Amino acid sequence: MARLDVTETFHHISFPGHIHTQDSLNYARHFKFQDRDTVIATYPKSGTTWMQEIVTLVKNRGDPQLSKTVPNWARAPWLEQYYSAKVLGATQGPRIITTHLPYNLLASALQGSKAKVIYVTRNPKDVVVSYYHFHKMAKFLPEPNSFDEFLDSFLEGSVSYGSWFDHVKGWTRQAEVLANVLYISYEEMWLDLRGSMEKISTFLQCPLVGEELTSSMRHCSFSSMRDNAMVNYTLVPQEIMDHSKGKFMRKGKIGDWRNTFTEDQICLFDTVYSYQMQDCPQTFLWECP
Ligand code: A3P
Repeated sequence: MARLDVTETFHHISFPGHIHTQDSLNYARHFKFQDRDTVIATYPKSGTTWMQEIVTLVKNRGDPQLSKTVPNWARAPWLEQYYSAKVLGATQGPRIITTHLPYNLLASALQGSKAKVIYVTRNPKDVVVSYYHFHKMAKFLPEPNSFDEFLDSFLEGSVSYGSWFDHVKGWTRQAEVLANVLYISYEEMWLDLRGSMEKISTFLQCPLVGEELTSSMRHCSFSSMRDNAMVNYTLVPQEIMDHSKGKFMRKGKIGDWRNTFTEDQICLFDTVYSYQMQDCPQTFLWECP
């Protein structure tokens, strides 16, 4: 099956041309955020879909009706993708907006905004493994070849959406710049979903209680999302995502990178990571021994 991996380069970063255009990327860059917007910002494969589901459930107080009937890309559209102007323009009331853009491309649009921003990080070793498998099934991304080759591209930042290091450093440095920002990691959500949901719902000024919280936790569990066609991407046609090559809801684990990395790859990764992150003041959960 032919790949659809045309690349759109914008500010030196490659984006899948199948879903991005110069116009859509420029639209995102100059977007007018509203104070009641919730923005989910992530580097790919960091728990974006999970957070889209959590925010949807929180805003609906645990009622899964919307989660079970509307695809995630329609209820929490990607700001930079070609359809976003149409979808966001037609949305009444508070919007949930998703973005994979690095902070510097949204800096001026977010300046002075009171929109609530949730930035999700994930252990980059798990991100690169997840991203590698996603490249195999997503026909709009380049063929990844071997994991070794893909790892090199990831470490040098030449993959789609750019460098993980720049993305994470760029967004996590904005605690004092953004009016309303919550930083949370995939690991934190995985290890303590209840505590994370309480934190997120409080941040969204929609604190969940009792059955609202229990229901939200049930519907955003890995098994529930794996079986929900509105979030597991099985609605995407075969020519865009080859479902015979893998599943979007793949493993949903922390530390699974250990099953893929060789000793040499761990060594290379750790060397690049220490160098790239030396100017990042934040400590992440995956760095703790
Ligand atoms: P794996 O490929 O490691 O399984 P994104 O939505 O940013 O593309 O991230 C996709 C990753 O998040 C996939 O990781 C997917 O399985 C995982 N994921 C999605 N929903 C999840 C959930 N409810 N619990 C745990 N992991 C989840």
